[in-house]
Amino acid sequence: MFRMFFVLLVFSTGGGILISKIDNNILIGNISESLWNITQNQCICEMIQSNGIISTLNYFSTNQTCQLFYTNDSSILVESNLNSSLIFTNQSAIFIAQNQITSTTITSSSTSTTTTTTSTTTTVCSQPTWSQTATTIFGSSAGASGSTLSLLYEPIGMYYDDPNNMLIVADSKNQRILRFSLDNPPSVATVIAGSNGYGCNMNQFEAPDGIGVDSSGQLYVTDYFCSQVVRFPSNSNSTTSGTRLGSVALPTLISINQLTNDTYVVSNNDNAVYKFVGGSGSAVVTAGGNGNGTALNQLLGAVGVYYDYLYTNSLYVADSGNNRVMKYPSGSTSATYGTVVAGGNGAGSGGHQLNDPRSIVVDSNGTLYIADSNNNRIQRWLQNTSNGTTIVGGTLGTASNQLYFPETVLFDKYNNLLVSDRYNNRIQMFNLTTC
Ligand SMILES: *[C@@H]1O[C@H](CO)[C@@H](O)[C@H](O)[C@H]1NC(C)=O
Ligand SMILES: *[C@@H]1O[C@H](CO)[C@@H](O)[C@H](O)[C@H]1NC(C)=O
Ligand SMILES: *[C@@H]1O[C@H](CO)[C@@H](O)[C@H](O)[C@H]1NC(C)=O
Ligand SMILES: *[C@@H]1O[C@H](CO)[C@@H](O)[C@H](O)[C@H]1NC(C)=O
Ligand SMILES: *[C@@H]1O[C@H](CO)[C@@H](O)[C@H](O)[C@H]1NC(C)=O
Ligand SMILES: *[C@@H]1O[C@H](CO)[C@@H](O)[C@H](O)[C@H]1NC(C)=O
Ligand SMILES: *[C@@H]1O[C@H](CO)[C@@H](O)[C@H](O)[C@H]1NC(C)=O
Ligand SMILES: *[C@@H]1O[C@H](CO)[C@@H](O)[C@H](O)[C@H]1NC(C)=O
Ligand SMILES: *[C@@H]1O[C@H](CO)[C@@H](O)[C@H](O)[C@H]1NC(C)=O
Ligand SMILES: *[C@@H]1O[C@H](CO)[C@@H](O)[C@H](O)[C@H]1NC(C)=O
Ligand SMILES: *[C@@H]1O[C@H](CO)[C@@H](O)[C@H](O)[C@H]1NC(C)=O
Ligand SMILES: *[C@@H]1O[C@H](CO)[C@@H](O)[C@H](O)[C@H]1NC(C)=O
Repeated sequence: MFRMFFVLLVFSTGGGILISKIDNNILIGNISESLWNITQNQCICEMIQSNGIISTLNYFSTNQTCQLFYTNDSSILVESNLNSSLIFTNQSAIFIAQNQITSTTITSSSTSTTTTTTSTTTTVCSQPTWSQTATTIFGSSAGASGSTLSLLYEPIGMYYDDPNNMLIVADSKNQRILRFSLDNPPSVATVIAGSNGYGCNMNQFEAPDGIGVDSSGQLYVTDYFCSQVVRFPSNSNSTTSGTRLGSVALPTLISINQLTNDTYVVSNNDNAVYKFVGGSGSAVVTAGGNGNGTALNQLLGAVGVYYDYLYTNSLYVADSGNNRVMKYPSGSTSATYGTVVAGGNGAGSGGHQLNDPRSIVVDSNGTLYIADSNNNRIQRWLQNTSNGTTIVGGTLGTASNQLYFPETVLFDKYNNLLVSDRYNNRIQMFNLTTC
C-alpha cells in the first residue's frame, strides 16, 4: 500500500539530472532543461540512488497509476524487471511484476510513459499463477489449534502491513490480535490487542473477526459477539485499552479507505454494510439494509467487505448467504442497487458458482479474488465474466494443497497469496510462480 508522503530529496548526479522541489512543483531536470514538471498533488516522488542510478517512483493520485523510471546522465528510462526490488525512502520494497523495457530515452516533458509497477495487494501481470502447495507461515501446518505465540485457534481477519512485511491476524478463539513478521517464517507473534480473557471490556474480545489499519497506524477490530468496533492506537499491546468506534450488530469484516478514512463494516445481523464517514460519528448504511433477500438492494448473511480506493473506486461485498459478490459505486446508500459481479447462481462448486464466499480482494485490473469458503478454494473472476477459476485449493484437508474454510485472502508485496485457513488453524502462503 502506498504511503501518501511527499518525501522530496534533492539529488545531484555530477552535472546530470537534478530532481528538486520548486514551490509546489516537482521538477526533474534543471531550470534550463525541464524534463518533468508536475504539481505536488499529482505526484508522489520518492527516489533512491543505487549503483549510480537514481530510481524513482511517481504515484499519481489523480488516476492511481505509477510510473517507474530511472535516470542517468543523459536519459530517463522506464523499465520494469521481474525481480526488481527497490527500497524507497519511507516506503517498503516494491515488487515489479513485469519483465520488459517499455520505453527509453525520454528527452522532453511531453513524452508519455507506461505504467509498470504494482502496488501491493494487487497484481498486474497478465497471467499470474501461484504454487498449488502452500507454506504454513504461521500456526500448525498439521492443523492443530493452540494458544502459544506460535499457534492459532480459528484465525479469521487479516491485515498485511506492507512497509514492515508483517501480518496482523484476528486469532478469534484465543480472543487476541497477533502480529508477526513474514521475513523469516515461521516466526513468533506479538500480541497487539486482547489476550485478557473472554469479555467485552476495551482490552478484551469475545470473537474478534475483522481487522483494519488506517493511514496513521491505528488498529480497528470488529468483535462479533460484543457487537462493537474497537480502535487501538498504533503500537498497542495486550495491556492497551481501545476506544469504541461504535456499535454494529454481529460485525464481521472491515475495510478502510486510506484516502478518506471512511470505514466500512459488515453487519451480519442487519444484512447491511455500514460506513463510519471519515472513521468517526455514527454509522450509516452504505449497502443493503433492506432486510434479507436476493434483491439487488438486499444482502443475506453478508460477511466480507472490500473498498477498492485504488483502482475501481467501488465497494465489494461478499454476500455469503446469497453465494455471490456484489459491487456498489462509491457513495452508495441503502437505496442503491448493486450489481452481481461473481456467483449468484446458487450454492455450488461450478465455475459460475460460489458456496459461502467470505472475503474479496481486487487487483489493478478489477479482477476479483474470492475466498470461496465452503468450496475450500480461492476463486479468481476477471471483470465482466460469468465464470471464475480456481487458483488454489478445492478440496478439504490439511495437506499443503488443501484448505478448510478459508476466511480472508490477500496479497503480500511479492504478490504471494496469503490465506487464513480457519479450521486448519493456520495461515498459508501460496507463492507467486509465474507472471
Ligand atoms: C542544465 O542543463 C543544460 C542542458 O543539459 C546545461 O547546459 C546546463 O548547464 C544545466 N544547468 C545547470 C545549472 O546544471
Ligand atoms: C513548472 O510548472 C509550473 C506550473 O505549470 C510553472 O509555474 C513553473 O514555472 C514550472 N517550473 C519550471 C521550472 O519550469
Ligand atoms: C496518470 O496521470 C499522470 C499525471 O496526470 C499522467 O502523466 C499519466 O500519463 C497518467 N497515466 C495514465 C495511465 O493515464
Ligand atoms: C544512459 O542510458 C542510455 C540508455 O540506456 C545509454 O545509452 C547511455 O549510455 C547511458 N549513459 C550513461 C552515462 O551511462
Ligand atoms: C528471478 O529470481 C528467481 C529466483 O531467484 C530466478 O530463478 C529467476 O531466473 C529470476 N528471473 C530473472 C528474470 O532474473
Ligand atoms: C522517513 O523516515 C525517516 C527515518 O526513519 C524519518 O526520520 C522521517 O521522519 C520519515 N519521514 C516521513 C515523512 O515519515
Ligand atoms: C485484465 O482483464 C482482462 C479481461 O477482463 C484480460 O483479458 C486481461 O488479460 C487482464 N489483464 C491483466 C493485466 O491482468
Ligand atoms: C504496552 O504499552 C504500554 C504503553 O505504550 C507500555 O507502557 C508498556 O510497557 C507496554 N507493555 C509491554 C509488555 O510491551
Ligand atoms: C485520516 O486519519 C488520520 C489520523 O487518524 C489523519 O492524520 C488524516 O488526516 C485523516 N485523513 C483524512 C483524509 O481525513
Ligand atoms: C430473514 O428475515 C426474516 C424476517 O426478519 C426472518 O424471519 C428470517 O429468519 C431471516 N432469514 C435468514 C436466513 O436470515
Ligand atoms: C461456466 O461454468 C459452468 C458450470 O461449471 C459451465 O457449464 C460453463 O460452460 C462455464 N462457462 C464458461 C463460459 O466457461
Ligand atoms: C515465497 O516467497 C517469499 C517472499 O518472496 C520467500 O521468502 C519464500 O522463500 C518463498 N517460499 C517458497 C516456498 O518459495
